[in-house]
Amino acid sequence: MSTVRHTSISGVGSALPTRLVPNAFFEGRVDTTDEWIRERTGIRARHFASEGETTSSLGAAAASRALEGAGLEPAAIDLLIVCTITSDRPMPSTAAYVQARLGMHCPAFDMNAACAGFVYGLSVAAAQVQAGAADRVLLIGAETISRVLNLGDRSTCVLFGDGAGAVVIEASDDPGIISSRLELDGTAAELLTIPAGGSEEPASEESVRAERHKIQMNDGPAVFKRAVTGMAEACAGLLDKAGMTGDDVTIVIPHQANARIMNAIADRLSIPRDKVFVDIEEVGNTSAASIPIAMDHAWRAGRVVPGDVVLTTAFGGGLAWGANLLRWTAPTPAGDGDPGDASE
Ligand code: ACO
Repeated sequence: MSTVRHTSISGVGSALPTRLVPNAFFEGRVDTTDEWIRERTGIRARHFASEGETTSSLGAAAASRALEGAGLEPAAIDLLIVCTITSDRPMPSTAAYVQARLGMHCPAFDMNAACAGFVYGLSVAAAQVQAGAADRVLLIGAETISRVLNLGDRSTCVLFGDGAGAVVIEASDDPGIISSRLELDGTAAELLTIPAGGSEEPASEESVRAERHKIQMNDGPAVFKRAVTGMAEACAGLLDKAGMTGDDVTIVIPHQANARIMNAIADRLSIPRDKVFVDIEEVGNTSAASIPIAMDHAWRAGRVVPGDVVLTTAFGGGLAWGANLLRWTAPTPAGDGDPGDASE
């Protein structure tokens, strides 16, 4: 008789570029104000990568901290997955560069589920361990969204930031990663897209001039509504399947897209807003990196401790969305719990 192999998170880490960009940076560049950005999104500042910083350098910095937390050397990892929409180059994968930076030898690949990347990645990584294909997986969400931002488009440029977060997933005696729910509606792909630079519209002078290699959001309010509905339904479905309600959840660590979106999800799930971890104020929307960065910040702040029931949820381009239900296992960190920046 075969027994189910359980999985859990044994280490978490994050890295943000040192350059902090306040809302005032956009005033004068586009028709916006610090007040509008704060009130409509909850963002006061975000970090932008400096010259020389890349998705792989941020990813490797976050991964080193996650490995340290798990008490593991890079050589102990069997599989490396990097979730990103801002790879260092179209080819090879960003995972290849992270692997080289950390001196690892395991197989490695990238995953693209846009802002839902980490939620998808956690499900895939856990399944690899459950199937016995790997004992330890390093999962990274890393982005340098500033490199694909149209700084003349006020509807997108104020929303995003750069950074990376990472977790180590290991086989465990008890269930840590309980279950995941993944959804996608490809018919709504046009709502959030980077139109040029792929096989459909290869780079040309015209595509570069028209900023078609940059993020486009075609209908922010529609994305807002679909994000709230999609994430709330994914969370409710997971809780239902586990025989739990919002009362059983210790903390929600959602994708940090917009403070109003996060509040609306909590309200729909009848979970008090103070159970939702929010670090968007100085991080912004870091796409696939957003949940593992928030997870690391929550862990280092003592907001999540072993035994806690954690709900993560994300929504983004695809449209792709989903949720993960976890029981937290990583031991509380020693020391002052300061999250790192990428310069260390
Ligand atoms: N500064 C000032 N005004 C702005 C800005 C800005 N940066 N951006 C848009 N506006 C204007 C609009 O042009 C509009 O003006 P109009 O009434 O003259 O047409 C007005 O503000 C209201 O626009 P709305 O889009 O209705 O504003 P809303 O309150 O919906 O907020 C926002 C816009 C913040 C983009 C919101 O729709 C949102 O958060 N959507 C989800 C977007 C998102 O998170 N995308 C990221 C990727 S997907 C994800 O991560 C979930």
